[in-house]
Amino acid sequence: MPAFTATAPGKIILTGEHAVVYGQPAIAVPVTQVQARAIVTPKPGGREFRVTAPAAGVDSPWDSLPPENPLRAALEGVCRTLGVRRIPPGRLKIVSTIPVAAGLGSGAAVSVALIRAVSAFLGAPLPDEQVNALAYEVEKIHHGTPSGIDNTTITYARPVYFVKGQPVETFRVGAPFTLVIGDTGIPAPTKEAVGDVRRGWQAEPERYERIFAALGSLSRTARQVIEAGHPERLGPLMNEAHDWLCEMGVSHPKLDALVEAARQAGALGAKLSGGGRGGNMIALVQEGKAEAVSLAIRKAGAKRVWVSEVGR
Ligand code: MEV
Repeated sequence: MPAFTATAPGKIILTGEHAVVYGQPAIAVPVTQVQARAIVTPKPGGREFRVTAPAAGVDSPWDSLPPENPLRAALEGVCRTLGVRRIPPGRLKIVSTIPVAAGLGSGAAVSVALIRAVSAFLGAPLPDEQVNALAYEVEKIHHGTPSGIDNTTITYARPVYFVKGQPVETFRVGAPFTLVIGDTGIPAPTKEAVGDVRRGWQAEPERYERIFAALGSLSRTARQVIEAGHPERLGPLMNEAHDWLCEMGVSHPKLDALVEAARQAGALGAKLSGGGRGGNMIALVQEGKAEAVSLAIRKAGAKRVWVSEVGR
């Protein structure tokens, strides 16, 4: 019996993180150097549908997983959508090269790959819109009140201009550009960072709304320069975004050190990316500079570094 396999990339946020939760636009792009993979092998005559995710220490029949387990939630979502009462015997295996809690969307990528592979196994591959909606439901288990930008970028695997609650807008990259991604190695506490920003906003609404608006305006300009084929103009926008994120209190000394090291090594701009307080930062580099910038951020303490080409 053939297996049903689906993969999904990682993602990084270029501009607009946190502000996106409050209705401002954000831009995110897929990171194809890392990916999650879901493989469903049918076991005709078997007794159960088993889930194996070695990195998460999961190896059990799917209906024995705790109700709040994200893999179980994703499976239940697929069954509900397709009106399936009992999953036929088989094995679902999840493997991923996306580091967990690094701001690269590992949870959303696992959900998207799982939903695609399992719906195909059940004979009704779901369209992107439904994959995205189901993955968003699972994101709520991971992150509390997510904007939906992670699952959207990962489902469509294209650059996304994202405004919460509005139809998905992917867009064209006028000229390719290179990002160096540096992982601090500090698990990104996204839920906590999002909660702290909410408390800050409740305490000082005007100040926070000014910051959110400034970040939203950077996203609008970023989209224009990317579409117009002037990615080098993203550099100063990224630097400004980092300053606003620091103002909001979501950076971390290690993120600041990697951002500074990238700029010193010749990056056109650098900022933290995602929820902050850990996780990763990104640097925009000209062709030929990726190696020097990668080396500099490694020396400054990055635990992992990826070079990602956007739009190539
Ligand atoms: C996390 O990848 C991005 C945040 O803006 C949260 C969200 O959009 O759900 C911090």
